[in-house]
Amino acid sequence: RVIPPQCLVIFGASGDLTHRKLVPALFELFRQRRLPSEFAVLGCARRPWSDEEFRGKMEEAMASEVAEHRVAWEQFAAGLFYEPVDLEDPPSVVRLGQRLEGIDRLRATRGNRTFYLSVSPNFYGSGCRSLAAAGLLSDPSRSRVVIEKPFGRDYGSAQELNRVVQTCAQENQIFRIDHYLGKETVQNILVMRFANTIFEPIWNRNYISSVQITAAETVGVEERAGYYESSGALRDMVQNHLTQMLALTTMEAPGRFDPESMRNEKAKVLQAARLANEDEPWKCCVRGQYGPGGSSTRPIAGYRNEPGVNPESTTETYVAMKLFINNWRWQGVPFYLRTGKRLPKRLSEVVLTFREAPVHLFDAAGGAPTPNQLILRIQPDEGAEFKFEVKAPGSGMRSRPVDMAFSYDDSFGEPSDEGYVRLLADAMLGDPTLYTRSDEVEAAWRLYTPLLELIEDAPSQLPVYPYEARTWGPAAADNLLAEDGLAWRRP
Ligand code: BG6
Repeated sequence: RVIPPQCLVIFGASGDLTHRKLVPALFELFRQRRLPSEFAVLGCARRPWSDEEFRGKMEEAMASEVAEHRVAWEQFAAGLFYEPVDLEDPPSVVRLGQRLEGIDRLRATRGNRTFYLSVSPNFYGSGCRSLAAAGLLSDPSRSRVVIEKPFGRDYGSAQELNRVVQTCAQENQIFRIDHYLGKETVQNILVMRFANTIFEPIWNRNYISSVQITAAETVGVEERAGYYESSGALRDMVQNHLTQMLALTTMEAPGRFDPESMRNEKAKVLQAARLANEDEPWKCCVRGQYGPGGSSTRPIAGYRNEPGVNPESTTETYVAMKLFINNWRWQGVPFYLRTGKRLPKRLSEVVLTFREAPVHLFDAAGGAPTPNQLILRIQPDEGAEFKFEVKAPGSGMRSRPVDMAFSYDDSFGEPSDEGYVRLLADAMLGDPTLYTRSDEVEAAWRLYTPLLELIEDAPSQLPVYPYEARTWGPAAADNLLAEDGLAWRRP
């Protein structure tokens, strides 16, 4: 598919995401020759930078890529521009419109625009209003808006934000981004399920006994305390990334692979999802916060000692929880979700555990056969793994678990693109299949409402347990599964 001529306008161009993800992803698309020659990037923020200063900042931030691809960078950078814009100041947005017309003439971008709101979430609604008021969203075939996460803070604010942005633009112009959907391996959940015949017949409550979805990180809060303190792991990771992995793992096959069919199915399954104990949510969720850890030579600061964090903060950096999906396919199957910062490994995966064989005919290593497991490895070491029992060599009939593994690296060699590469290309193509629709976002917030309300109204009922940095989270999270006779997978 060919990306049409256009100008990509990035609001928040002086921010971290622009030089860490967005411009590198655009440069990658440029080097893959996927951008048309009639293309421009207009960085916008309040700072009074010139085009040259903006180019210089991007070059500085991407020094090693630039050094490696100097000639390509010079060509790409000629299409980078900058305009100081205050989205809340109407005359400034009018000037932006004039600048865009100038860029259209200079770069033949034909009035096609993708606006990317990489600004503080407080400005999502007002930003869309300003763009609409300046007439910059009036042609749905030429303009669209990409909105970063978090989309709202809870169910009510997400509904309100949807209402506001939908008065400014049509739903098919609104691209709510979740960068997990840009990952090859997250998309692969769909392909594994719906391009093979062997999985789907057993992908249900009759054969699957439980599912674990993990997104573990080794990093801490980094420089983002300002944002993270008021967000926490539940809003930062669970409501979006983990919930999207849950939706892709559990949805029905869409009638076609098109934006509406896909998103109908995701919305439908999320509407059927429930916390395991909606009335007593403290029973199905554990929150944690990393304390100091590491070794004497490489000590790691605890969350409360990180720069910008309140020394008495009760923001969670770890969450584990149990859910059910009340539909015909999944009724009664527990789904365990967990995510945390400063865990021992960076690892995201979906683990489906199958029911035990009805009769144990053979001696098994460890007393009982290990249930079959299908592990979809989202990152790192992208791939999939199936665990099953085989006959252990030797006399007798003893069974032993082994692995059958597929690795992206071994099979395809090439490292896959960063999620932003795929997602930016899709937005510029006007394809929202991998973007979340208003009803999905709202269903995801509604699912966690009992927890968010409890944290707000009676936080002591959902305490934040400390855990040592570089460990697998608080013991209470292990108990959540131990109560069901299970344990978290420790890769
Ligand atoms: C972001 C969160 O959306 O995802 C971060 O705000 C988190 O806190 C990041 O570190 C994880 O993304 P990835 O792609 O590294 O798993």
